[in-house]
Amino acid sequence: MSRIIGHRGLAGKAPENTEAGIRLAAEQGLKWIEVDVTLLGDGTPVLFHDRRLNRTTNKKGRVTSLTCSELETIDVGSWFSEQFSGERIPQLGAALKLIKKLGLGLNLELKTNGCSEPRLVEAVLKTVAEVEFPTDRLLVSSFNYRALVHFSDRSDIQVGCLFERLPLNWHKKALRVNAVSIHLHGKRTTKRQISQVKSRGYELYCYTVNSLTFARQLTGYGVDGVFSDFPLLH
Ligand code: G3P
Ligand code: MG
Repeated sequence: MSRIIGHRGLAGKAPENTEAGIRLAAEQGLKWIEVDVTLLGDGTPVLFHDRRLNRTTNKKGRVTSLTCSELETIDVGSWFSEQFSGERIPQLGAALKLIKKLGLGLNLELKTNGCSEPRLVEAVLKTVAEVEFPTDRLLVSSFNYRALVHFSDRSDIQVGCLFERLPLNWHKKALRVNAVSIHLHGKRTTKRQISQVKSRGYELYCYTVNSLTFARQLTGYGVDGVFSDFPLLH
C-alpha cells in the first residue's frame, strides 16, 4: 500500500465509508484507502463500520435489519455535516467501480458483524469479480481470523492480518492465510514488535494515526504506512 492510507475513505474530512469520502481522498492526493464492508439482511454487501445504524445515520437498529431497497431512505452524511446531507450507504459494487475509476488502491476490511463468514466472503468475491476490480490494487483484511482463513482458501487476492494487539502466534496465523501484511493498532504496538514483524518480511501498517509526528515516528521504526482520517501529506 502507500505511506498514508485514507481510513474509512477519509473519515476526518467526509462521512466515513461513503462515496463522498472516497472522492475526497482521491482529490486530496491519497493513493490508497481503507473501507469496511458488511452485509445487509438480504445479503447485499455495503460499506459500513458499525453493527447498528445509530451513530452515523438518521435511522436506528441493526444493519442486518435492512434490505437494499431501503438504502435510498437512509442519510449517512448529515451526522457528519450538513454539507453531506443525502449521502447514501454505498453498495460494494458501486464503491468498487468508483475506486477503480479513480485509480485508487483499496484495503477492504471484512466486518462480519454477526453474519456468517462464508456468506460475507462469497458476496465480496462475487462483487470484485463482477466489477473486474484490479486485484494488484486490492488487499483484504479482517479482525475476524475465520473470515480471513475462508477468504484465503477461496481466492488468491492479497490478504493482511489485522490485530488489535500482536498475538504470540501471529506468524503461524499469517502463514496459514499466506498474508503479505500485518495491520496493528499504532498506540498498542512496540518497537520490538515492529522489528519482529519486519524481520519476518511482512509489510506493516498501523491504524489509526492522525498525527504527522506519530506517523513519522512509526515509519522511522520501520512501519510501512499508516491508516489516517486525514491526508497527513506526505
Ligand atoms: O483496518 C484498519 C482499521 O480500519 C481497523 O479499525 O475499527 O476503524 O475498522 P476500524
Ligand atoms: Mg476498518
